[in-house]
Amino acid sequence: MRCLLARGGAKRNPGLGIQRSVSLQGQYVPKKPISRSLRVRLSGLASLVKVLECLAVGLSVSHLSKHFEMGSHRVEVLRNISMEMKRSESVAVTGPSGSGKSTLLHCLGTLTPPSSGTVQIEDENPFLLPEPKLAKFRNRVVGFVFQDHHLLPQYSVLENTLMPALAFPTPGLDVEQRARELLHRVGLSHRLDYRPGLLSGGERQRVAVARALMNSPRLLLCDEPTGNLDLSNAEMVADLLFELHEEELTILIVVTHSQALADRFARRYEIREGRLSREA
Ligand SMILES: Nc1ncnc2c1ncn2[C@@H]1O[C@H](COP(=O)(O)OP(=O)(O)OP(=O)(O)O)[C@@H](O)[C@H]1O
Ligand SMILES: [Mg+2]
Repeated sequence: MRCLLARGGAKRNPGLGIQRSVSLQGQYVPKKPISRSLRVRLSGLASLVKVLECLAVGLSVSHLSKHFEMGSHRVEVLRNISMEMKRSESVAVTGPSGSGKSTLLHCLGTLTPPSSGTVQIEDENPFLLPEPKLAKFRNRVVGFVFQDHHLLPQYSVLENTLMPALAFPTPGLDVEQRARELLHRVGLSHRLDYRPGLLSGGERQRVAVARALMNSPRLLLCDEPTGNLDLSNAEMVADLLFELHEEELTILIVVTHSQALADRFARRYEIREGRLSREA
């Protein structure tokens, strides 16, 4: 499974011909035998590429502000937010209810355009893309675990998880296999045919995590992923997010009211009245 999940990283370097030979199960399948010394050199090169990838800036937010017009009234929600994250980084964002946490995630996840300022993801300003391309960018690059998880009630656990892969299919990729693997990873192999309405809150949250990871996103945004969960389920979901963040080299941003969860992050921010500040 570790190899399968690492596939996301391989996909990001299509220029490296060696990685096109990685099978779905993550096994390297050489077209013809290669020498041991070449193998050693290739694995050294792959490690170097991975280190460089970790150090590259994956997300850059500059002077982002967001307001909503309510009739003649303007609601200022986010004020002059700037931050930068490398591809290997994870952060927690805390703050009182109504301070702008979800709005920030929606701007970073390209669901809501900022009123001013820029969001750069992987050297791309997605808000400059026309709508169909923006939708594809969002589908490929962003994974979202929503505050109220937004599972589709009429579809099964497996179908919900598969959903992001169906919008813009990748030829040759066994998406059902990936969905099954992810659901196994979140401990839900025995619930594949269930509708969300029959799941517990924690199980629904775990399906939402699996769905968010379906397309191996570069940016994983989680809005209260452990809200409404008991302690052991909350820890289980948090462990999973950290593991997948490391394995898939995904930028991880978690909004939470849980101090215990926030404390697990080396880098923490707080939002108050729309202003973001880094915690010491
Ligand atoms: N579309 C909108 N139109 C008008 N006001 C909005 C809109 N979306 C959010 N707001 C307002 O922006 C403020 C911030 O909302 P947001 O959902 O980002 O808060 P939050 O920090 O995520 O809160 P919580 O912790 O309760 O989830 C709130 O006062 C909310 O009413
Ligand atoms: Mg919120």
